[in-house]
Amino acid sequence: MRILDCSAGHRAIWFNRLHPEAVYVDIREETSPSVVADTKALPFREGVFEMVVWDPPHVVNGPESRMAEYYGAQRAEDIRRMIKGTAVELYRVTTENAVLALKWNDHDVRLERILKLMEGWSPLFGHRVASRMKHRSSTYWVMLKKRAPGYSSKQLAFKMLGQGTGFESAKPDW
Ligand SMILES: C[S@@+](CC[C@H](N)C(=O)[O-])C[C@H]1O[C@@H](n2cnc3c(N)ncnc32)[C@H](O)[C@@H]1O
Repeated sequence: MRILDCSAGHRAIWFNRLHPEAVYVDIREETSPSVVADTKALPFREGVFEMVVWDPPHVVNGPESRMAEYYGAQRAEDIRRMIKGTAVELYRVTTENAVLALKWNDHDVRLERILKLMEGWSPLFGHRVASRMKHRSSTYWVMLKKRAPGYSSKQLAFKMLGQGTGFESAKPDW
């Protein structure tokens, strides 16, 4: 099975952080991913991965915040754009029956809102795994399945983003 972890970070969620079937992607080079890339424009050809794990950033960071020092400043609008663009790319780089495990914390954007932005992916099941009273937020794991093709990944990109991602014809070595 080919597994894509597209927000690998320090791979804390993995039992085996060097899983032989996984490709670890992160935008931050300092986390030593297998591939440094932005999930909104993944350097993979179409239909490669059968499983995706995605633990995207979920917190709105003001430019002065401590988190912004590590991850950059981020508004709710940036989060929504990243979710939309990444869902389109994940649709493109996955196989027909692919599944996607999403981890989400609803500190700033509600889970339902996020799932609605993920055109091309249907939630199957999931549950809340933790609640933080201090920040009044909950963390969820949700399993999604790729929708049956009613449209091509290119059409999906146009529908969701109003443009192509520019990587549709890239042919890297994966
Ligand atoms: C919540 S952390 C993931 C933690 C990771 N699952 C772990 O177990 O350590 C989110 C990660 O996504 C990365 N990230 C943020 N935006 C990204 C993007 N557009 N493309 C790729 N990675 C991104 C961040 O650098 C960060 O490492």
